[in-house]
Amino acid sequence: VLKTEIIKINSRNPDISKIKKVSKIIRKGGVVIFPTETVYGIGADALNQDAVKKIFKIKKRPYSSPLIVHIAEFETLHLITKNIPEVLYLLAEKFWPGPLTVILKKKKIVPDIVTASLDTVGVRIPDNKIALSLIKEAKTPIAAPSANIFSYVSATSFQDVIEEFNGKVDIIIDGGDTKFGLESTVLDLTENPAKILRFGSIPKEKLEKYLKLEIPQKIENYKGKSPGLKKIHYSPNAFLILVRDSSPEKIFELMKKYKNKKIGILTYKENIEKYKNFDFKIIGSKKNYRECAKNLYKILREFDREKYEIIIAEGIEEKYLGTTIMDRLKKAAKIIY
Ligand code: TXA
Ligand code: MG
Repeated sequence: VLKTEIIKINSRNPDISKIKKVSKIIRKGGVVIFPTETVYGIGADALNQDAVKKIFKIKKRPYSSPLIVHIAEFETLHLITKNIPEVLYLLAEKFWPGPLTVILKKKKIVPDIVTASLDTVGVRIPDNKIALSLIKEAKTPIAAPSANIFSYVSATSFQDVIEEFNGKVDIIIDGGDTKFGLESTVLDLTENPAKILRFGSIPKEKLEKYLKLEIPQKIENYKGKSPGLKKIHYSPNAFLILVRDSSPEKIFELMKKYKNKKIGILTYKENIEKYKNFDFKIIGSKKNYRECAKNLYKILREFDREKYEIIIAEGIEEKYLGTTIMDRLKKAAKIIY
């Protein structure tokens, strides 16, 4: 067990002396938990393989699962990637800093451990002042997966990360709640047409304005190369049942079937009346995808903290961020109706 240092930093106006302190830990090969605009990351110097190895150990993540490299400036792409496609200049202008991860051909300087020995690397510029100034001060790219034990729900608050990682990392930054609450969209630019490997905080409809896209048919085993797409990922401890069309008959039937269990419904503002005699939690309004996305992991973790055994989740329309929300609910679900 490590002595984990905790440091609170204001994400709107980060205190540079605090950032410097954390950046020194990165430079020395330590492991740091920091906020991004999507979810919290657990990071280390991307060019230091021993440091990166610690992340896998701490997260219990298989080495076959590649990490995203976080950079602060577009120019750093030239250090770690090659064959940068023309369209990325346009995408970067539109979406960076922000929740878009692009897969590019990697240069040798990126250790194999970061990329699971693939010849490609995932890169993004996060839109969070703490993350950006940390990368700049560390003067090195930071490899960081989401800060959660492998296969559990990603962390969107300081409370989430402290619960799982106190005593396991060198330092945890308390930077408040993350803005989006869902991970970045992963876009493979080494393929033509480009392919979405993971739905995320940038909806595909937005990307489609700038390039021709394909969504791999069998997104789960797309070349076996993006383990983040595999099923049973991001799942809460509670047994989650997804009712895609929100059919009230189905939900009431399930409530009856499991009446001896601690059971709760994950629903939307519009349905409060419908469930007034049941136990439920609201992730937002069906019309406000952004709100629902932000609350999804938060609410799933709440169900677990309160020891729910079963969650019945209502579906949402699969457009814009609704596609991402449904993607995560499907992955979390043990049964889908
Ligand atoms: O929002 C995010 O992306 C957060 C924050 C911390 O940046 N990070 C995150 O990392 O979600 P992680 O490790 O939980 O998910 C990384 C995803 C996985 O689905 C992984 O398979 C994919 O990115 N990925 C990374 N490098 C790849 C590569 N070279 N080729 C294909 N997929 C890759
Ligand atoms: Mg993850």
